[in-house]
Amino acid sequence: MGNVVVVGSQWGDEGKGKIVDWLSERADVVVRFQGGHNAGHTLVIDGVSYKLSLLPSGVVRSGKLSVIGNGVVFDPHAFVAERKRLEAQGVSISPASLRIADNASLILSLHRELDATRENNAGTGTKIGTTGRGIGPAYEDKVGRRAIRVMDLAHPESLPERIERLLAHHNPLRRGLGQPEIDAATILEELTSVAHEITPFIDRVWRLLDQRRKAGDRILFEGAQGTLLDIDHGTYPFVTSSNTVAGQAAAGSGLGPSSLGFVLGITKAYTTRVGEGPFPSEQDNEVGRFLGEKGREFGTVTGRKRRCGWFDAVLVRQAVALNGIHGLALTKLDVLDGLDEIKIVVGYRLDGTVIDYLPASLAEQRRIEPIYETLEGWKDTTAGARRWNDLPAQAVKYVRHIEELVEAPVTLLSTSPERDDTILVRDPFQD
Ligand code: GDP
Ligand code: IMO
Ligand code: MG
Repeated sequence: MGNVVVVGSQWGDEGKGKIVDWLSERADVVVRFQGGHNAGHTLVIDGVSYKLSLLPSGVVRSGKLSVIGNGVVFDPHAFVAERKRLEAQGVSISPASLRIADNASLILSLHRELDATRENNAGTGTKIGTTGRGIGPAYEDKVGRRAIRVMDLAHPESLPERIERLLAHHNPLRRGLGQPEIDAATILEELTSVAHEITPFIDRVWRLLDQRRKAGDRILFEGAQGTLLDIDHGTYPFVTSSNTVAGQAAAGSGLGPSSLGFVLGITKAYTTRVGEGPFPSEQDNEVGRFLGEKGREFGTVTGRKRRCGWFDAVLVRQAVALNGIHGLALTKLDVLDGLDEIKIVVGYRLDGTVIDYLPASLAEQRRIEPIYETLEGWKDTTAGARRWNDLPAQAVKYVRHIEELVEAPVTLLSTSPERDDTILVRDPFQD
């Protein structure tokens, strides 16, 4: 198949960054195709930790081309800050190693302010718990056909007209929220002050990817967030504002869907969620605290404590179908080491009826009761295992049972945050 699409199969933070970094050794190009700097991907290489939000996780390897596709909402000031932070760690980011799609939409400070104001004004039950990065408002402007785009930074003469159009929408909105209006000069300054930092990276990404594909290069697509945060297929309205499913890799990069290749679903061996919204297998108890502490479940972007619960096979099976997942990368198995027993959600009860899917309605999602199966835990450690044969028998049984329940094979297994603590079962680039 050649290319690989990495997607999160739960609510994000499944370990996509670690797996993309590991797989990028085998790739030539790494592409982000949705989301923005709401993503938080942590890579650990020889004990050194790298935190990425907007940049593709391929940037830490030299000799790879990183690409930010048109499906991403791009905050130029966040880009400059992240580049600076990574360069301080010795990661070089130059126009030769990174290209940014000319047709990606920008996130501006007014988007961040609107995101924060809405969240602060929201009452109990309506707050989303966003990352506060302006993601939702920026996508709204894109769909509303008034966004300022990356290419506009290279054409300062076009900016006044673009800004006027944008403010014709935002200033009435701000007045309604009791906020001061913004004048065009402020936005112009926000953009022109940063334009020179961005313009050397701007490219016609659809053509670049087409050329790389024709040259036989291997392209790795890096999803952000997770399937259950997808704007259409997730736990709406408690979702992010983009399509996070594998299909978006094509629309969000400009490479046709026939070239996408192997779809790899990154899957945590239990479940976590940051922010508000339904979470059927949540364990707000000792088990949840154990998983949170052992798994160090704190958000990379906002530092918030992640909610924790048992593995939910119903949700992951749904994600397998929604993404067309060919194989799973199962991460954080080591966090389960030492538990006497481990539970898995195998179905839900809704108003007395057993169902095998997550209903689309929020009211129904709130009413479902999970049905659990209990498996024996293991006392030996899986942490740092690099060979399948080093895993305790009960851990192997757990993995095999997950494969059966979600109807997808495990292709990769991750046993610690370290890059090399990864077991390759089947090479997704070879399929
Ligand atoms: P992403 O958003 O999907 O890239 O995931 P995050 O980076 O936000 O969260 C995953 C966290 O788990 C990071 O801190 C990783 O370093 C860490 N991690 C990844 N794989 C493993 C694993 O197999 N075991 C353990 N213990 N930690 C892991
Ligand atoms: P990675 O790529 C986990 C969640 C937020 C909130 C909702 C909407 O690290 O897996 P947004 O700021 O996108 O409008 O917030 O989505 N969220 C994530 N949760 N991991 C992420 O990214 C997330 N990106 C957004 O917590 O509930
Ligand atoms: Mg994350």
